[in-house]
Amino acid sequence: MKVRKVRGTRDILPDKIRKWQYIEKIAREILENFGFQEIRTPLFEETPLFSRSIGEATDIVAKEMYTFKDRKGRSLTLRPEGTAPIVRAYLENRLPTPAKLYYLGPFYRYERPQAGRYREFYQIGAETIGSDSPASDAEIISLTMTLLKKLGLKDLILQLNGAGCRKCQPDYKEALKNYFRKKLNSLCDDCKRRYRKNPLRILDCKSKGCQKYIAQAPAISNYLCEKCKATLEEVKKYLDILKIEYTINPRLVRGLDYYTRTAFEITSRELGAQNAIAAGGRYDDLIEDLGGPSTPAVGVALGTDRLILALEREGVRLPVEEGIDVYLASLGTRASKKGFALVQRLREKNLKVEGSLSSKSLKSQLRLANKLGARYVLILGEEELTKKKAILKEMATGKQKKILLNKIVEEISRKVG
Ligand code: HAM
Repeated sequence: MKVRKVRGTRDILPDKIRKWQYIEKIAREILENFGFQEIRTPLFEETPLFSRSIGEATDIVAKEMYTFKDRKGRSLTLRPEGTAPIVRAYLENRLPTPAKLYYLGPFYRYERPQAGRYREFYQIGAETIGSDSPASDAEIISLTMTLLKKLGLKDLILQLNGAGCRKCQPDYKEALKNYFRKKLNSLCDDCKRRYRKNPLRILDCKSKGCQKYIAQAPAISNYLCEKCKATLEEVKKYLDILKIEYTINPRLVRGLDYYTRTAFEITSRELGAQNAIAAGGRYDDLIEDLGGPSTPAVGVALGTDRLILALEREGVRLPVEEGIDVYLASLGTRASKKGFALVQRLREKNLKVEGSLSSKSLKSQLRLANKLGARYVLILGEEELTKKKAILKEMATGKQKKILLNKIVEEISRKVG
């Protein structure tokens, strides 16, 4: 039997990894500029952390979690998202408030795989815990837009809405129930379940049959309480100050139960069905729900896989560094031993250096140097050793010159460094 990767997972191979590294580097820089600090939490947590915070009626909890029993029979779940674990870590470690935390890494959802949707996918996320200022909502959105723009994405739409709160959501849920009651027989089985458990979740349904009813359903914007309305107005003002364009989507409520007030999604026209590149919002009750003191919070998560897909589809070329600085080609046993030591000394100077570890012909070594994208090739043979010199060839121009062995490290560091 040939062992293959699990459906919905991918190997990120060396020819693509530079893009990932570049994106992660820029993301870290921007997040740190915005005052966020990195946090790493475990890949798995106790199951109730997710079921309680994301909500039993959501697709994530009802159908998509990788849940398993460990050897002691405890129910554990591979993290399907980052917000709940960050809140758990914030509470458990008594982190100071306000806390501005960011994370990068893999997440797991049992979804039907397609372009831009995987069972193992990556997110870059940020959470501001302890601020109820709408300026924090705008800051979270601004940092996401800054990152997407810095990477070169253009075709973006920011959709914004107020998702309500514990005060106004019950009225809205009632209105949804009234509206869907007469249509219940035409809804899919999942929506029948959602109707009973949390009618808000019907709005997440992707099935065509339900979509046509969802399009006519009451919009939450008509049910917002004064505080929710005021928050939305303030967020809009802060976005205007930053000249960030948005459209109000009165039906946007997001597919996780913990959202209160601000909800937003950033989509790309290039992505088709799976078009949300980033999404987030406020979750002012989650920390209390997980056993902490009442603490407002807001955050975002960006799907790295979709980000890369959108960059490819928009034809953006990232300035990734390719190739190596020096390839050391050696001929003969004495030269190759000398070369082996030289490679090490050059690497200690922080240069990217590769050298032949076996005795290949000069021609095949030069071919390899080319393939590796070497900027310089250093040629060391018996004759060169006797004359205590080596040949340095610049690959772009083909120019060659002889340099003294005891000056090699200095000379190459000067040229390349
Ligand atoms: P989410 O909307 O479930 O929110 O996911 C955020 C982003 O992760 C999506 O917009 C998408 O780009 C990416 N994503 C989600 N599922 C997949 C998948 N199966 N394959 C590829 N990419 C995917 C959250 O996870 C919230 N924790 C965001 C948040 C942070 N809210 C407040 N703070």
